[in-house]
Order: sequence, then structure tokens, then C-alpha cells
Amino acid sequence: MFPNVAGPIGLFDSGYGGLTIFDKIHQLMPAYDYIYLGDNARAPYGTRSFDVVYQFTRQAVHKLFEEGCQLVILACNTASAKALRTIQQKDLPGWDPDRRVLGVIRPTVELVDTISRTKHVGVLGTSGTISSGSYAIEIHKMFPHIQVTGEACPMWVPLVENNEFSSPGADYFVRKHIDHILSADPRIDTLILGCTHYPLLIDKIRRFLPPGITLFSQGEYVADSLRDYLRRHPEMDRKLTKEGRCRFLTTESAEKFSDTASLFLNTPIEVERVDL
Ligand code: DGL
Repeated sequence: MFPNVAGPIGLFDSGYGGLTIFDKIHQLMPAYDYIYLGDNARAPYGTRSFDVVYQFTRQAVHKLFEEGCQLVILACNTASAKALRTIQQKDLPGWDPDRRVLGVIRPTVELVDTISRTKHVGVLGTSGTISSGSYAIEIHKMFPHIQVTGEACPMWVPLVENNEFSSPGADYFVRKHIDHILSADPRIDTLILGCTHYPLLIDKIRRFLPPGITLFSQGEYVADSLRDYLRRHPEMDRKLTKEGRCRFLTTESAEKFSDTASLFLNTPIEVERVDL
């Protein structure tokens, strides 16, 4: 059904946010080939229902498999929370049981117990990620003693997608959610940025944080975890091409994606428009 030859690593996000994950993975493992796909035409996903996020993510993973990817990372917490398990259990066995789809939530929570002293942790995410309860579920599987408080920040992704993340207008929405989560649990000493768009807002978030709170951005953890995964799975590593090539695909305007993504990545990129 899909090309059965070695291929690139695929990364998928609803829009630009997954570039924060791509950037860290690419820095750590520049020899591999990558295809990044942003479904910008249908972003944001954060307020969409379970079924819609699943259908959109399924189409994106299918596209990346058609393009030759053997391994796809859902570089999107909302898709990881709402679609990963169904794709792994329902779609993958019929499509190709040897390919893999991995998410970003599990690798993000693995170190949380080492980082938090108070064992009170906050998660900032989209409405979809927070209402799914996925972070609390994954944290409690490993660390049942940690108290988890979630805060949905529905305006943050639109601020990033519309290139308003450094504007003074963004201050109000950033401060509002920081104040809200810290008053819901004043013992929080660790805040997880549980959305791949949020690292773009990190300077603003830091400005409104009281001292002593650790901000936990997931890119490096996901990159380390992927490298570790490939060491433990040489049969997958052998199926990944390593010529240092990157392709960028978007479902919206290629020109717009190229302009914005080049800012995020600090380097000009070429982009292709695709339909899902
Ligand atoms: N970058 C996606 C995430 O990590 C986001 C969001 C969206 O489209 O709302 O959840």
C-alpha cells in the first residue's frame, strides 16, 4: 500500500507549533531526512472534537506514509492526546504494522518527578489537551504522588498562528492564564508547556511568572527520547534515510508558511502545498 523502502522521519502538527519540536530534533540528529507537515488550512485543532482531530490526524499520517515516512512523530499535543492511541491500535495494523507513530506527551512527562520539588505540577495546553486529561493520566501512571493542575489557554495558539506572539496585545492572554493556574494551586513549582506552539510565547510567559517556578518546554525531551528510541530499535533506524534533507509541506499557502516558518527556524525554507 505504501512504498516499502527506507524513508524520512515525518513530523506532523496542526500548523507551525511542531516546528519547535522539529528544530530540536534536527539540531540533535541532523543526519536524518525529515518531512514536516502542517495542516495550517484547518488549524487550530485545540477546540475541535475528538472525532474531528482523529480524522484530520489520520489523513495527515496517511499522507506522510504515502510520502515514504517509516516513522511519524505527532509533534502536536492535541493530536497526541486525541488521535495517537486510535491510530496506533486501529489504523496502523491494517496500513503497515512495521511503521510507527509516536506522540509527544509520554516523553515530556518522564522527567517531571526529577524537576518538581513540591510535586505540584501545572500543565498549560489547548482546550482539547486539557479536557482529555492525557497529561494527568500519563503523569499518574509513572508518578501517582504528583498533583496535576491543567489550564486551557485557547487564545495562545491563534496568537502564534497569526504572528502576534510578541505583540503587546498578547500580554493580557498570557498573564490571565498564568495567574489563573497559579491561584488554582499556589504550590505549583513546575509548569509544563503542553502545546508545541507555546515555546514561541516563552519570553512573555517568563515575564509573568513569580521566581522559583520552572518552565518545562518539551522540544529537547522529545528529541532525546527519539534518539533513545532509535538506539533501542535498530530495525527502525535502518529504515530511515540519512542524507540531511528536509521537506516542508502545508495544506495552506506555501508562501505564507515559508515566510512564517523561516522566522521560527531562523533560516529560509522551501515549502510545498499539499491536499490531505
Ligand atoms: N501545536 C498543537 C499542540 O501541541 C496545537 C494546537 C492547535 O492546533 O490548537 O497542541
